[in-house]
Amino acid sequence: MDLEPPPDVGGRWLDSLAARAQRVVHPAVWSYLESGSYGEVTVGEATRAWSEVRFRPRVLRGATTPDLRTTLLGNPVASPVGVAPTAMQRAIHPLGERATVAGAEAAGALCVLSSNCGTRWDELGGTSPWWLQAYLPSRRELMLPVLEGAVAAGASAIVLTVDTPFPGSKYAADAEDWTGIDLSWWRVNFADPEFDRWAPDLGVDDIGWLRDRTGLPVVVKGVLRADDALRCIDAGAAAIYVSNHGGRQLDRAVSTASALRDIAAAVGERAEVYVDGGIRTGVDVLAASALGAQAVFLGRPVLHALAVDGATGVERLLTEITAELAEVLALAGCASPGEAPEVLAASTRTAL
Ligand SMILES: Cc1cc2nc3c(=O)[nH]c(=O)nc-3n(C[C@H](O)[C@H](O)[C@H](O)COP(=O)(O)O)c2cc1C
Repeated sequence: MDLEPPPDVGGRWLDSLAARAQRVVHPAVWSYLESGSYGEVTVGEATRAWSEVRFRPRVLRGATTPDLRTTLLGNPVASPVGVAPTAMQRAIHPLGERATVAGAEAAGALCVLSSNCGTRWDELGGTSPWWLQAYLPSRRELMLPVLEGAVAAGASAIVLTVDTPFPGSKYAADAEDWTGIDLSWWRVNFADPEFDRWAPDLGVDDIGWLRDRTGLPVVVKGVLRADDALRCIDAGAAAIYVSNHGGRQLDRAVSTASALRDIAAAVGERAEVYVDGGIRTGVDVLAASALGAQAVFLGRPVLHALAVDGATGVERLLTEITAELAEVLALAGCASPGEAPEVLAASTRTAL
């Protein structure tokens, strides 16, 4: 007897994204996107850690459509789901960052652009708010022209990445053959893309320096401890961005899902708190909101969506995760992500 093929029941577009992206991205670049550092323990447990969070939903509260609009450092957004800074976007799609900016704008989402970007600031297009991610080099002043260019082009905050005194080893990606890959779009906003990029001596004083030199609020990205979060705020940070760099820096660093709660509790109302790492569904965003994040950012999924369908793909990714968030907020009995901490189950194991 011939068996009928299984019916096409559609499935979740987001679940097919990575496999579809892999088919169109150069193998060396794919390895660079996906890899974690060293033994890849941290990257491997990021998404699973969000599924440890448990909710105690509220009922009989006259469900309304949840309101996902918010402001991030004063910038209005339609959703608390934004785009994390990632380098190499023109290796993934010819329009690179321009497509990402356009997709984020169409979804009403905030976009953070890597300073290792392949598009000149003044060619980004778009009118929505965007933030510049920066690393600081040993000679801080070398970064000033890049910062000034971004400010002139409309960046409305600086995201200072502090977990990268130098890049952690990524054995899989480092072993790839990069011959034939055009690197001319690498760090195009720098006069000399080869200058020493890393500052092992970075300290909290650099937060005030960056704020004073740019006139913009500074978000500190790469914080995994409450004591560090408080040091950053004392030094003038406007927001704390909990991140382990997608498992690409210190391997076996704790998951962001397990670090977030303590940090958000310690920070309280003194600064905004964001998180990234392994967030793949609206339920993950609900978990992050319940643990105290005001916004979440997506790294690799944006690159996958960019590879598969450019700006349209990025818009669809952000819109679908946001729609999932609205759905699960309603099921949890929450009218907005800000109410999510009220449905966090006491049994949730998120201690370090
Ligand atoms: C290919 C790639 C490039 C990245 N480049 C940067 C970067 O230039 N600056 C930075 O602060 N973080 C960078 N990150 C880290 C992301 O901002 C983010 O922390 C991480 O990807 C979030 O985890 P997720 O990919 O699981 O969503 C990069 C991550 C990837 C995967």
